[in-house]
Amino acid sequence: MHQKNTPLKACAAAAAMLLALTACGSDNDNALVGVSDSALAFDSTKYTTINITIDGVQVPVRWYKEVCYVAKPVAMSATQTSLTGASSTIANPTCGYQSMNIFVPESVAANTDTALYFAVNNSGWFASYIKASVADGASFNSTTSNVGAALKAGYVYIDVATRGRGLTAADGSYPGKVPSQVVDAKAAIRYLRLNDARMPGSASRIVVNGTSGGGGLSSIIGTSGNSPDYLPYLASAGAAGIDANGGSTLRDDVLAINAYCPITDLGNADLAYEWLYTTFGTRAAVGRNPNPAGSAQLAAKFPAYQQGLKLANGSGAALNSDNMMDQIRQEVTRSAEVYMAAGGTIPDLGEQMTYASGPTTGTYTNDWLDVDNGTKKVVSIDMAKYLKFVATQATLKAAPAFDQTGMTITAASGESNLFGTASQKYSNFTEYAWDNNDVHGDGIGYDDTGITGSRHFSLATTPVMGQVKLINPLAYIGTTAETAPYWYVRHGTRDRDTAFTVSINLTRALQADPKVQEVNYRLAWNQPHAGNYDVPEAMAWIAQTLKAAAARGL
Ligand code: DHB
Repeated sequence: MHQKNTPLKACAAAAAMLLALTACGSDNDNALVGVSDSALAFDSTKYTTINITIDGVQVPVRWYKEVCYVAKPVAMSATQTSLTGASSTIANPTCGYQSMNIFVPESVAANTDTALYFAVNNSGWFASYIKASVADGASFNSTTSNVGAALKAGYVYIDVATRGRGLTAADGSYPGKVPSQVVDAKAAIRYLRLNDARMPGSASRIVVNGTSGGGGLSSIIGTSGNSPDYLPYLASAGAAGIDANGGSTLRDDVLAINAYCPITDLGNADLAYEWLYTTFGTRAAVGRNPNPAGSAQLAAKFPAYQQGLKLANGSGAALNSDNMMDQIRQEVTRSAEVYMAAGGTIPDLGEQMTYASGPTTGTYTNDWLDVDNGTKKVVSIDMAKYLKFVATQATLKAAPAFDQTGMTITAASGESNLFGTASQKYSNFTEYAWDNNDVHGDGIGYDDTGITGSRHFSLATTPVMGQVKLINPLAYIGTTAETAPYWYVRHGTRDRDTAFTVSINLTRALQADPKVQEVNYRLAWNQPHAGNYDVPEAMAWIAQTLKAAAARGL
């Protein structure tokens, strides 16, 4: 049976209510409760009721608006500028990037067992300003909207804002560098743990949902539960459950992850991307080859990286660069066969495939996939032509794909501004990009410093390698961190935003971790870089996961 109050939670709840302090598993009287806990007590009376419609039925919902989950939010500039230079004024510079909107269906207001559907919104790995997915008068279809489906299932729906790249603080610094977004999500989880006894739902049943940058954030949250690595950052944010000695009195692990196309393993994502799109000459074949020498140099580093992960392929042998392409082929095969088994039809060789990419719809003559729709089996896949198809229906990224700021090969839009100090606009975070940075005067790279990437990143004065670890789920799987036991991961078969190897490696690593009960992974047939396209299936998985967890006493 599910136990709502573990001793640790009961203690934390008592702290939040400012009751007499009791021993909370620590010898040190100063270390009994989190120093910010009393400032972070949830006020259950502070909501407005809104009315929404789900599948035509009116549903009253309590909205706890913009709940600030840290005691020391970073004051932000009221004017924020996007990477494209567009500026906007934000209404809540005090805590709008460190708050959550909590939506509680009235029917579960007194239910202390239901799940908390914890949606992170940091697409692009950008800062996510507080967002309300539920608005008074809105109507939802629970077969297409994960928001409507979660509320209909009686879960508490939470929109979580976090710091992230592109953000400017009131003092002009850049407060969204790694690990700020991970710290913020953990601080929100700690808030829910601290206040568990006085909030609807159970903080032991947090299901994290995120897409792309959000899939990446979900993945690191799901793998790094309770890791001490984040405690100093949590302390300076004024997160719940950090005692006067910087120790933790609360947990920040979660039950389940529902992640789509995670943009993750950023330190190695460039190698994987170039390996995937140069092995069969895809870049050249589609005329998107801005840096052939760089692509070759990066791709050449992939085999050693892949070997170093020490993962197994589907049949138990080492997963390496020799058999990775075949693993991808097997995953695409499985994706197509699941689709056909569910009643879908796939065009024959020589027929037109239609696809929608963003607002445009395109067609492509199927020259890569031979299926038998009668037996619902894949006959063969030509991987070179498959990858060319992927790179035709969406333009490939620059090379390098992720750490490209400071390089003039193409317009930059990569993740370099996630890294570096709060006073640096960006920093390269891979040796290749550092060594090839050619924007003179940006203070970054061999060109400006005369120091190689290899030497620079090993210096104690640069935070970059630590940051690369703090955002990398593969660095935590199989360690003493509390990895979430349940995972549902999807990555579209048409997604060109990161290499398919990224989600394959993540899920293979999870499968090898004895703490993980279930990994439900699949390439999603004919899906682009997107998420929440499979609401009934994902929701059924969550419902079944909650049952399985309850049966295990979680
Ligand atoms: C997202 C997309 C990207 O291509 C990327 O590098 C990071 C994030 C996104 O859609 O969230």
